[in-house]
Amino acid sequence: MLVILKRDDEEISLQAAQLVAAAVRKKPASVLGLATGSTMVGVYKHLAQMHKQGTLDFSRVITFNLDEYLGLPAAHPRSFHHFMHENLFAHVNVVPRNIHIPDGTIRGDYDRYCASYEEAIRKAGGIDLQLLGIGRNGHMGFNEPTSSLASRTRLKVLRQETLDDNAKFFAPGEESPRCAITMGIGTILEARKILLLATGQSKSSAVAKSIEGPITSAVSASALQLHPDVTFLIDAAAASQLTQRDYYQRVLEMTALLTPDRLS
Ligand code: GLP
Repeated sequence: MLVILKRDDEEISLQAAQLVAAAVRKKPASVLGLATGSTMVGVYKHLAQMHKQGTLDFSRVITFNLDEYLGLPAAHPRSFHHFMHENLFAHVNVVPRNIHIPDGTIRGDYDRYCASYEEAIRKAGGIDLQLLGIGRNGHMGFNEPTSSLASRTRLKVLRQETLDDNAKFFAPGEESPRCAITMGIGTILEARKILLLATGQSKSSAVAKSIEGPITSAVSASALQLHPDVTFLIDAAAASQLTQRDYYQRVLEMTALLTPDRLS
């Protein structure tokens, strides 16, 4: 596990975009796992800029988003489909048929639909690089606390703190969805490489528990301790409750010296 400490949101966004770009340049047909949320906005802005400058080509990239609200059609301004279109897909050349985002409008046989999402990931060859944010309660995607660490893509009921946190994206009085379709923790752990971004004081407890706490379903992101290739990119505020910051810094310096490939 590599912990990269940066000053602020801007530094995090730039470094994350550089890591994604390096992965795509190394393997132009990369399968990317993508996330939504305010933490991702700057990352997608930088990726869009690189594409505009002609230094990054997405024409062979395949994408799978982590999650979508149940009940929101793609065109809904609060849907994750809409978020992805506005922040990334409208600005880069990912081929539309290569874009996968869980369908928020499905009804009835949820299990079958979710199994087909998993199957599509498998058929694409599995996820090469998974981008993750983190919820205040430690969730990844919408894997709320007590989600099975072996969970797969499924329907998930959202916790009150998640509804409260995401209320900022909905108009006052607007009913926000209570459920979502999300990749599972088991699904996420199968990605070859994982990059988790966290910024701001409100994430500091979740970050500390995920990196330094016990592996527990009470903090979904603590399951990342089981993965062999995870990088946490964290700003100073989100890192404030970590107790071993000096050690992470030394590991980073030695990594740059001995195994620089790990950083690109
Ligand atoms: C939502 C998403 C998560 C994301 C989280 C944090 O709950 N399902 O994937 O990590 O929000 O969002 P933000 O970056 O806005 O704090």
